[in-house]
Amino acid sequence: MYGIINKSIEELVKENFGETKWDAIKKSSGVEIDFFISNEPYDDAITFKLAVAISSELNVPVSSVLEMFGEWWVLRTAKEKYGALLLAGGNDLKGFLLNLPVFHNRIMLMYPKLTPPEFKLDNINERSMDIQYFSEREGLQPFVKGLLIGLGKMFNTPVSIEISKSDQCDDHFDIFKISW
Ligand code: HEM
Repeated sequence: MYGIINKSIEELVKENFGETKWDAIKKSSGVEIDFFISNEPYDDAITFKLAVAISSELNVPVSSVLEMFGEWWVLRTAKEKYGALLLAGGNDLKGFLLNLPVFHNRIMLMYPKLTPPEFKLDNINERSMDIQYFSEREGLQPFVKGLLIGLGKMFNTPVSIEISKSDQCDDHFDIFKISW
């Protein structure tokens, strides 16, 4: 994943838990990179190693780390560093979610080596929809949950989310039933 992801994780830890905690996490993760460069791609394993080290240093499940990071990504990193892109995504939660399937297309212009998530929408209603999430990576469902909660907060529209797996055996994806 691009360095901006790892950098954002570093900022989350430093701001909420302090520099010393970050130093300990970095050490126990075994990641030997001093500075993450935003627009340079890094091995996914680095991001996962950091998440696991945060989980053991803070004594919380990896899923909670990923969910916390999802909220942080939207409410801090995206808002502060990519404000215009976020604004262009929609004026309210529903508008933003309707746009989600094509959202990373623009990001690929900035980060051409991106391996983006894929989203498809189903059962779209006034105050709910099903978001299908496809990824080449394993285990990022809690990250998506945190991202959606963050989007709800950004638009002052609290959300509730139910996650299930598709029952089509030939096609594996997760379904986020979101309502607001
Ligand atoms: C301006 C805002 C955003 C930017 C700049 C951005 C950028 C990125 C980048 C750089 C990655 C790493 C992928 C790679 O390096 O190969 C990524 C991954 C991802 N993004 Fe975004 N993103 C943004 C907003 C969102 C939002 C609002 C969602 C909402 C659900 C989202 C969902 C994801 C997911 C789930 C992944 C993990 C990739 C996977 O599932 O395989 N992103 N994004």
